[in-house]
Amino acid sequence: MIGASAIPILLATTGAPPPGSIFGMPPQASTVAPMVDLVYDIITWISIFFFVGIVGVMGYFMIKYRRTSHVANTSGPTHNTPLEVTWTVIPLILVIAIFYVGLKGYVHITTPPENAYEIQVTGQRWFWTFNYPNGASETNVLHVPVGKPVKLIMRSDDVIHALFVPAFRVKQDVVPGRRTTLWFEATREGTYSLFCAEYCGTQHSQMVGKVMVYDPDEFEVVIEEAARWIDKVPDDNLYLAGTQFFNQCASCHTLDGSKLIAPSFKETHELFANRGTRKLADGSTVTVDEAYLRNSILHPLSQIVDTYPSSMPPGIGTQLGDRKVEAMVQFIMRLDDTAPDGQLKEVTRAELVEESTEPEGE
Ligand code: CUA
Repeated sequence: MIGASAIPILLATTGAPPPGSIFGMPPQASTVAPMVDLVYDIITWISIFFFVGIVGVMGYFMIKYRRTSHVANTSGPTHNTPLEVTWTVIPLILVIAIFYVGLKGYVHITTPPENAYEIQVTGQRWFWTFNYPNGASETNVLHVPVGKPVKLIMRSDDVIHALFVPAFRVKQDVVPGRRTTLWFEATREGTYSLFCAEYCGTQHSQMVGKVMVYDPDEFEVVIEEAARWIDKVPDDNLYLAGTQFFNQCASCHTLDGSKLIAPSFKETHELFANRGTRKLADGSTVTVDEAYLRNSILHPLSQIVDTYPSSMPPGIGTQLGDRKVEAMVQFIMRLDDTAPDGQLKEVTRAELVEESTEPEGE
């Protein structure tokens, strides 16, 4: 509970006060946010009213009926029908009203409008992938237009996650083997936090992203750019482009040689650099060359490395597209440049598209 004196301080530290919520809720940035906050505010005010009322009367009685030497003991009252009916009926009406408002909001939140813009969402340990109708695929960044309903069609590749955008007041579990949906209509341009709200393993707290809300015309440009950026990366820079989407590989492949459920890229890179061979699950061996790398991304189930499970999504090559596959092949071939000392090199998409970095040799 926040005292009245704390409210101005709270608003001062969080920037512009969101309209309609004085209980420290994040800014309201979707059409449902004011409704959610209204219910929250009403329940909080009811709680404050009864807390103050009950504790106040209790305090008054404690003083008035405190034990003193000159008061005779009497037996306590047994019951009072009008009083009991009152304290049953009034809360009953209140909870029915809260239920009604809550149910109405719930139905609204769970019924996406017919014309909603659809975005496919995949939750994976430990990142989010957002796929757009024009083929753009973004990791941990959700672009949406302002003032238009957006429907997220969500699935999980592994365990239960939950997509949560506090500023939109929406949250929905993402469950393996099932499609779940979530819709919202953003009302304010800006950048908002996005979280995984279901404990999904050791890196759960790192499964965060952002929602970026644009004016509809700008949104079209951003989405177009997101679909095409890889085509704009000059060939000289393509080996570095993998840094932008390596997080799709990171839950199974490491860069520093440590073992997850698939071979570390470091090990693969070293074999490639020394023209080494790898033993496959079917007993054969294969030379780790460029063709092997490419085939392992395009047809991951065709050459399973011995002792590892065949767990790579077979459709990943199609999902990435030719140029990203090529980028990832080069990324592994030049791992000393793309992930020196096992740390992913930090480059922005803009840097990749604009300047040509110095090639540092194979
Ligand atoms: Cu995904 Cu927590």
